[in-house]
Amino acid sequence: MDNQQLREKLLNLKNEAIALIQDAKSEAELERLRVVYLGRKGKINKFVGNIKKGDESQKREFGTLLNDAKIAVQEALESKTKNPPASSEDWIDVTLPAKRPPLGHLHPVTQAIDEITKIFERIGFVRARYPEVDYDYYVFSALNMPANHPARDEWETFFIKSPKHPKYGGLVLTTHTSNGQVREMERVGKPPIRMLNIAKCYRRQQDATHTSMFHQFEILVIDENITIQHLKGTLDYFAREFYGKEISARLRPFHFQFTEPSFEVDFTCTICQGKGQLDTGERCRFCKSGWLEVGGAGMVHPAVLQAGGIDPKMYTGFAFGMGVERAYRLKPGLKLDDIRLLYSNNLEFLEQF
Ligand code: DAH
Repeated sequence: MDNQQLREKLLNLKNEAIALIQDAKSEAELERLRVVYLGRKGKINKFVGNIKKGDESQKREFGTLLNDAKIAVQEALESKTKNPPASSEDWIDVTLPAKRPPLGHLHPVTQAIDEITKIFERIGFVRARYPEVDYDYYVFSALNMPANHPARDEWETFFIKSPKHPKYGGLVLTTHTSNGQVREMERVGKPPIRMLNIAKCYRRQQDATHTSMFHQFEILVIDENITIQHLKGTLDYFAREFYGKEISARLRPFHFQFTEPSFEVDFTCTICQGKGQLDTGERCRFCKSGWLEVGGAGMVHPAVLQAGGIDPKMYTGFAFGMGVERAYRLKPGLKLDDIRLLYSNNLEFLEQF
């Protein structure tokens, strides 16, 4: 090897040592590198074997170069010892599973709608979807509430500024899912009908138990020989499936233009289990009476069947409509006393579901 080649070899050896020292991950590894390069039988001392015997000038040149290399490696070791390798806790273990990004979930109201849909599909109901902006005719007139009928005032309606249809009248935001009743009769034509209509509804209202946009689900059954027993049985079935075995439905006489007879529907209060008072003897503030009102129901009025082209002498039917949010807030353990929270977009609240 000539001098030039030797110089290169020595330079490589020195650089290799410094690089390995800088990358060392522990003190034990530093000590091992010290022995490998600077030890008595280490790589730098062994390099002396490359120098030709008897070549004084080569001996002199490389004696100095070897010394410089030893000093450089020694300094690298010292500086690394002053800045010791990062402790093992800081190591990146590339075999660990990665952190997952936070995952959202369906909104509680969507979860409730899915659950309600499954409960009714199990007993043969078919989910229907009808417009949320609908003609006055389907929302009121066809439901036995002709223009200017006072019963319309109960639905605090948002009206749409639009030209009136000669037969169906003006447009409104649907105030209830009952607009689906006559639409479903028109769609199916001949009974049997087993409709589940779930949709957004809109009313001019806003307080702890009302939001101006909310959801309802509506059941409509039309067939031969349908009676109030079918209505009560279906409501009890829903109460059991949605809330639990101990919960049942209660019908209270009421008035709706589109049903005769008509009822309001209550469910057993899930806070006091229908007792009206808590175990402490205190009156239940959630329900006051052991029951909570969730919607309306009744036997479909003959005028409504006729509007849907169905002969009331041959067929009878029952219907009920309930607020999704209202029904959902009674779920055992939920104690949701302000339904506006559902639409607050507050993640801390929503993440609980
Ligand atoms: N649509 C009524 C409301 O929003 C509720 C209702 C009452 C629905 C009686 C029905 C029914 O289907 O038969 O207050």
